[in-house]
Amino acid sequence: MTQYVDACLLVEVAPRTAKRVMVSGRAIAVVHADEGVFAIDDRCSHADVSLAEGEVDGCAIECWLHGSAFDLRTGTPLSPPAMAPVPTYPVRVVGEGDAAVVQIDPTPHPTPNRGNQ
Ligand code: FES
Repeated sequence: MTQYVDACLLVEVAPRTAKRVMVSGRAIAVVHADEGVFAIDDRCSHADVSLAEGEVDGCAIECWLHGSAFDLRTGTPLSPPAMAPVPTYPVRVVGEGDAAVVQIDPTPHPTPNRGNQ
């Protein structure tokens, strides 16, 4: 069962940027992409750095350290050197305008097993 909890206000995450939030003890990047709002673990699968500090490009976020991009819908790496997916989370926006709240279910979506990770 999906259990959403408040993560931040939508106005705190400018379009085409990401923000690190803590939800139920997990560091999660809330990403405001052109395609909508996404939630992905705030940890690159290549090394322990914040994805929220990366660049948002379409429906992907690019790690600032070595440039791997991750699909925001699935967490799948789209470019090397990262090989392993990053967990993603169900997310929704409740309310409108400046009062719109981003809510996340901190239970990760299943991610595809890409082998040798
Ligand atoms: S730490 Fe993210 S690609 Fe290397």
